[in-house]
Amino acid sequence: MAIKWLSEKYRAQVVTVTVDVGQEENFSEIEKRAYIAGAEKHYTIDAKEEFANSFVAPSIMMNALYEGVYPLSTALARPLIAEKVVEVAKKEGATHVAHGSTSKGNDQVRFDLAIKSKMPEAEIVAPARTWGMTRQQEVLYAKEKGIPIKEENKKFSIDENLWGRSIEGDTISDPYAEVPEEAFEWTKVTSTEPLEIELEFKEGVPITINGKRSSLLEIVRYLNREAGARGFGRVDHLENRLVGFKSREVYEVPAALLIYSAHQDLEKAVYTPLELRFKRYVDQLWSDLVYRGLWYEPLRSLLDEVGRSMNKYVEGVVKLRVKGGGVNVLGRRAKYSPYAENVASYERGWYPTDEMARGFIEIWGMHSLLANRSRA
Ligand code: ARG
Ligand code: SIN
Repeated sequence: MAIKWLSEKYRAQVVTVTVDVGQEENFSEIEKRAYIAGAEKHYTIDAKEEFANSFVAPSIMMNALYEGVYPLSTALARPLIAEKVVEVAKKEGATHVAHGSTSKGNDQVRFDLAIKSKMPEAEIVAPARTWGMTRQQEVLYAKEKGIPIKEENKKFSIDENLWGRSIEGDTISDPYAEVPEEAFEWTKVTSTEPLEIELEFKEGVPITINGKRSSLLEIVRYLNREAGARGFGRVDHLENRLVGFKSREVYEVPAALLIYSAHQDLEKAVYTPLELRFKRYVDQLWSDLVYRGLWYEPLRSLLDEVGRSMNKYVEGVVKLRVKGGGVNVLGRRAKYSPYAENVASYERGWYPTDEMARGFIEIWGMHSLLANRSRA
């Protein structure tokens, strides 16, 4: 629809790009629609592996959750999509780069900043930001111009990729309204059988599932399908957008939440208490940067290095069970864990002497005792 509008309003020759980041789509259908709407040329770019290895992998290392719940699926794919579009723009000698975000969206910030970083000379056009139509008016315009749109577009606004499915709009804009079952696709319960999984990590990223070596892309797909079928992976979030207001967003993110549970558990087995606390702070900082469209902020690359070097020792196996829409970690085995059973056990092994324990406690609690005495 923007294609029609661009060629009418700017007399532009429009080249369209669809980036495959793992969304369930009929790409030849999209291509057909692009040509019907007036595109001169269309590109479909398969970026699934790159998305998995260069965007999903670092977010696993960072347990990336915005405001503690949203695995950033939409946000993570934006810089990659923009980079692919810019590659095409350069190849085609384009002067303008267009995207479909509105003036209320987070995505406009992510797209604009990615385009500015990779192609500063390009002029950015965001038709939906310029034309001032509501969603309903957009549907009418499309109908009037004979542009086919998908049925689901009329109801919720959906964004989907390998890492998650985001749902917003329609009845769920009311934060108190329960999300209707029809909004969900990945987490409809189709199996009541518990799902047991052994996930093996190396350098902070899953490498085998139930003993079978697989690519990250395959592992994520498998977990989305199997954990999703147990109704696991729903998030309901009243989210602080980067554009000044709160918005009700719902996510289906089974693989992300499952992998994070396992990864965080393994990190806990490996890190010192101070490292663990520091890492959780780094995780949150990284997630905020990604959410807020600051993928190209130098601090993000620096934190990535921190994440990679701290994940060097995150190696081992985590056993999990998904059942009744929830997940439990059943056990973990970490290669570089300081855990020592003979030290921790109450049955045997190391015990400090009475004198050591008394001395330690006395000095440990001294700050508080002295402070309380000074305030009495
Ligand atoms: N609020 C999320 C984000 O900013 C998801 C936005 C997804 N878009 C959608 N049309 N549902 O990352
Ligand atoms: C938009 O860009 O308008 C859609 C979604 C979002 O950024 O949250």
